Amino acid sequence: MIGVLDIFAYLALSYILYRFIRGIYIIIYPYLIARPKNLHKLAGGAKWAIVTGSTDGIGKEYAIQLAQKGFNLILISRTQSKLDSVKAEISKEFKNIEIETIVYNFTNANLNDYKKEILPMIEKKEIGILVNNVGLYYDYPEMFHKVDLQRTADIAIVNTVPVTCLTAAILPQMLKRHSGIIINISSGLSYAKLPYVTTYSASKLYINHLTSILRSEYSNSGITIQTLCPNIVSTNMSKMEESFFILNVKKMVQSSIKTIGIIDECSGTIQHQIQSSVFGLPEFFLNFGLKFQVKEFKKVADAERKKVDA
Ligand SMILES: NC(=O)c1ccc[n+]([C@@H]2O[C@H](COP(=O)([O-])OP(=O)(O)OC[C@H]3O[C@@H](n4cnc5c(N)ncnc54)[C@H](OP(=O)(O)O)[C@@H]3O)[C@@H](O)[C@H]2O)c1
Repeated sequence: MIGVLDIFAYLALSYILYRFIRGIYIIIYPYLIARPKNLHKLAGGAKWAIVTGSTDGIGKEYAIQLAQKGFNLILISRTQSKLDSVKAEISKEFKNIEIETIVYNFTNANLNDYKKEILPMIEKKEIGILVNNVGLYYDYPEMFHKVDLQRTADIAIVNTVPVTCLTAAILPQMLKRHSGIIINISSGLSYAKLPYVTTYSASKLYINHLTSILRSEYSNSGITIQTLCPNIVSTNMSKMEESFFILNVKKMVQSSIKTIGIIDECSGTIQHQIQSSVFGLPEFFLNFGLKFQVKEFKKVADAERKKVDA
């Protein structure tokens, strides 16, 4: 006879098996098996793509690769001269692409300024893709109370307000067309409770939660809403050199774009997806390991700053 304990044991075993198979599936299917979707079809034929934080790193690369696929661009960043030079660079390579730029500093969360500076342009165009990429990190890991308060506020605002407000502003037109793509760039650091980069880690978890709820709320709308959680990419933000797990930005974006419409939440690349499987480990173990790693980063950063000060 099967007792209650046996039933629980079978349930536990099934759950472990499910986690294991899902872990393997998520590493292999999106990157090695699935065929990339037609982005123009997912976008419902709308020709414009918006990319925030698009003058450097991951955002700039999304802009380039979406232009390559034939999307017109609205680039939003805080430095006009950089916007102009990215616009010139992309226009030179992709002659048939139209590009608009909006200079906006996203540390400004005043909705009246959003309404004045950003929303009129968005409402005028048929937007097929919104890439909520802009994000702010620390200059170096530091204890929460020692971080400059303005920096803490800026990280909290830049990492949460634009993704929330721009998504809300874009949804009405996407709903009307029953199509569209929204990509919210979070981070692998959202999966752990990470000390010394506290506001960043917490604000990125907000993106995961927001995007996941939106997927449920708009599940029958025809809109594709993806959360992207990369680990370290070699950009100005990470200040790290490329290696096997520290990815080249072009390759990272190329691979991530192929997962649109295939998987709701992922790391974007097979390397980072393998790396992120550690996030399935028991929480205390994971938090201990990552705290140790960030402490090491902090030591290196502290030593470098001391050298500069001396
Ligand atoms: N790099 C990584 O290792 C990594 C890993 C995981 C997730 N991510 C996420 O990926 C996204 C892009 O990161 P990245 O490494 O590409 O960053 P990045 O190289 O530092 O580029 C940041 C971009 O955002 C713009 N920007 C910064 N602050 C802004 C503000 N207040 N208002 C308007 N624009 C602003 C910058 O424009 P200006 O040049 O004009 O300042 C630049 O175009 C972020 O959300 C980040 O959290 C990055």
